[in-house]
Amino acid sequence: MPSPQPEAPGADSPRAIDVSVSGSAGRVPQPQESASEWRWWQRGVIYEVYPRSFQDSNGDGVGDLRGIRQRLPYLAWLGVDIVWIPPVYPSPMADFGYDVIDPTAIDPLFGTLEDMDALIADAHQLGLKVIIDFVPNHTSDQCPWFIESRSGRDNPKRDWYIWHDPAPDGGPPTNWFSHLGGRAWTLDKASGQYYMHSFLPEQPDLNWRNNEVQEAVLQQLRFWLDRGVDGFRMDALMHLFKDANFHNNPPNPDYDPKVHGEHEQLMPRFTLDQAEVQVVIARMRALLDQYDGDRMMLGELYLPLEALIAYYGADGKGVQLPTNSLLILQPWKIDSIRTAILEVERLVPQFAWPNWSFGNHDKQRLATRLGQDQVRLAAMLLLTLRGTPIMYYGDEIGMHDVPVAPENIRDPFEKRVPNKGFGRDPERSPMRWDASPKAGFTTAEPWLPMGDDVASVNVASAQADPGSLLNLYHHLLALRREEPALNIGRFEAVDAPPTVLAYLREHHGRRLLVALNFGTTPVRFKYPDLQGASVLLGSHTHERPQADGWQQEGVLLPAFGGEIIALAG
Ligand code: GLC
Repeated sequence: MPSPQPEAPGADSPRAIDVSVSGSAGRVPQPQESASEWRWWQRGVIYEVYPRSFQDSNGDGVGDLRGIRQRLPYLAWLGVDIVWIPPVYPSPMADFGYDVIDPTAIDPLFGTLEDMDALIADAHQLGLKVIIDFVPNHTSDQCPWFIESRSGRDNPKRDWYIWHDPAPDGGPPTNWFSHLGGRAWTLDKASGQYYMHSFLPEQPDLNWRNNEVQEAVLQQLRFWLDRGVDGFRMDALMHLFKDANFHNNPPNPDYDPKVHGEHEQLMPRFTLDQAEVQVVIARMRALLDQYDGDRMMLGELYLPLEALIAYYGADGKGVQLPTNSLLILQPWKIDSIRTAILEVERLVPQFAWPNWSFGNHDKQRLATRLGQDQVRLAAMLLLTLRGTPIMYYGDEIGMHDVPVAPENIRDPFEKRVPNKGFGRDPERSPMRWDASPKAGFTTAEPWLPMGDDVASVNVASAQADPGSLLNLYHHLLALRREEPALNIGRFEAVDAPPTVLAYLREHHGRRLLVALNFGTTPVRFKYPDLQGASVLLGSHTHERPQADGWQQEGVLLPAFGGEIIALAG
């Protein structure tokens, strides 16, 4: 979701800094503890599939649950651990499933509850965890709760949503904007009141100050916890509460209509990140903790780090993984990236655990944003940082945004705010499994165009090429799993030449050096401690060693490339 940009993290960071996090008495395991005590969501790598676009199993051009289930062995081969499935609930699809009619059922487009049960069972059999999207902020306007609420001012569910009388001039009660274009208020002519929606008019916001709403939603979570899901990706979590006194949002002094969405004219002071949300999150977490298996929440939160960390909860009893969007929103520049990493290492509390991602179904794809020549570097960065990595389907084969002709646009955001580059269809194009015209995704006309480079960018071709990006991801994921230092070890930034980002990951004496060259030319990095070191993985050469004598001369880093090196004991 386009949302307020995080504030730029603090001033220049020191070039070498030890940000070891040992010595904690915190809630989640820390580097001094034995590897077996670590939680699955700390050790694992999350992979988002977009259900409409992953695999079609019934020839209607739209992906489905049976399709995802068929492809689970691929995910197990790739080496990810946790599958995140966006909404597959009954929905009019105004926002492609994020407008939910009933979150305890499955839309026939995607299959049945039995299909979901079978998918979860198969995933568990393969050692994969499953987390599903849950949408607590709003429902569809076709949800029975809203239909009742809308039926009259006296309806018992009236207060389940946010209704307000018009302003004195008859217009919307506040100046609030929707995040998908237009005002956040729609007039219900029958009752003469407005209802509030942070997103589309077809997605009315629930009133979380109503305890019946809280109870009803917790009941829906129970439904899935009882069915065996391992956790939830909590959609739009920072939106749950809006100011109880309906204050207008103040103007945003940095607003630039050329780059910002209409809603960014205002600071979201009274519509986002209100303190009461923490109370609800604690209730959700308490429910999850009643279940075995360490059920977890991944919270969708586009907030500056200082605000984001509050979502871990004061005592670590909040969201286990509040999504860190720094690598999505910061410019792809070595200095911004270094600053982001050091800020996360400094600010994420000792009782908590970081996470990292480059994109999702709402954001431009990695290969489009960075260019194909930098995707290997990005892969090595994502999978060597301290914190849970979150991958987006297709990035592992270098899929890029696929343009959609104006007459074929599907995303409501692009339809409501055209030609500003906000449309999300391009990053949702179908997964490419093989080199055939429909890429093994479907036998019908795919719901979004496949792109014109399917023959060269697809899983089958990449699997067959030992030097492919896909095989780099495969090796990186295997190494991350094998090496506790890379997975759960402490992080320490080290001095390096200007274009090189370098850090140590260390666990129980095993020390790995990660060196990433953001420059356009190769660089030799003479780290002082290379005697007896060995290369574990190179971004461009995979397992091919450096030339003889490299330990004396320094490790040679290709342009936009990196190496992972095991230092001698
Ligand atoms: C989240 C989803 C996005 C959706 C919005 C409204 O930001 O990721 O796709 O449009 O919530 O539900």
